Amino acid sequence: MTNVAAAELNYHHYPLAKYDRDIVNAIPFHRELHEQLLAAIEAHFDVNKNYQVLDLGVGTGLTTELTKNYLPQSTFTVVDFSSKMLQRAKQRLGSANIEYILGDYSLLNFDHQYNLVTSVIGLHHQDSAGKRALFKKIYKLLKPGGLFILGDLMTSANPHLSAANTAYHYHHLVEQATDEQTLTDWAHHHLFLNQLDTIEDHQQWLEDAGFKVEVAFQQWNTVLLVCRK
Ligand SMILES: C[S@@+](CC[C@H](N)C(=O)[O-])C[C@H]1O[C@@H](n2cnc3c(N)ncnc32)[C@H](O)[C@@H]1O
Repeated sequence: MTNVAAAELNYHHYPLAKYDRDIVNAIPFHRELHEQLLAAIEAHFDVNKNYQVLDLGVGTGLTTELTKNYLPQSTFTVVDFSSKMLQRAKQRLGSANIEYILGDYSLLNFDHQYNLVTSVIGLHHQDSAGKRALFKKIYKLLKPGGLFILGDLMTSANPHLSAANTAYHYHHLVEQATDEQTLTDWAHHHLFLNQLDTIEDHQQWLEDAGFKVEVAFQQWNTVLLVCRK
C-alpha cells in the first residue's frame, strides 16, 4: 500500500526548478546513485538496441533523462501519481518514444513486459507489504534476463548503524537546506512521510520474488540494488 496521497507530498505548490535542485540536495549521494545506475545499464545493455524501459515514480524526469540519453533507441514508459510531476517530466523528456501514465504504480495493471525497470527515490512511500507485492509484480513485468534497478533510502537491521545513518541523513539535510522552510519541508517529509525498510529486508523480499540481487552502492541510508531476473 502507498502510505501517502500525491497531494500530501506538496508537489503542487513546489516551484519545479526549486524541486529539481532540492531533490539532488536533500537525497544524500543522489549524483553517485545515478552514476552507479548508469554503470549498471552500461554493463547490461547495448546502446544501439531498442529496449522497453519502465520508470516507476518518474518525478521530474531526472533519472529517465539519463537512461534515455544513454539508450536513445529504446522505448520508455514512465509513471507518476502526481500530475504536476508528470507535467514537468513531459517538459524535460519530450514526446518521442515515451508514454506517460498518471496513476499509482502499485494499483496499475501494465500490459507490456520490459527489459529494464528503474525506480530511484520512488518506492519509499510503500509500506513493507506494499514493497513485497511490488517486487513480485516487477519480477513478472520483466522479460527473462531483465533488470530491475532500485535506488532508494533504506535503513539497516543493525540498530547502531541504523541510528548513525539516520543521524548522518538529518545532518546532511541541515547542511544542505538553503533556508528554514526548506529544512522544515525536508525534515517533515523524511520523518513523517517516508517509510523506510532495512536493506536486509529489501534484499530478502527481492530474492523471494525471484531476483538475484547485487548491492551496487551503499552509503548511509542511500542504496542502489541491481536485481537480475
Ligand atoms: C522523489 S521523485 C524521484 C524522481 C527521480 N527518480 C529522481 O531521482 O529525481 C519520486 C516520485 O515518485 C512518485 N511516487 C511515489 N509513490 C508513487 C506511487 N505509488 N505511484 C506513482 N508515483 C509515485 C512521486 O510523486 C514522485 O514524483
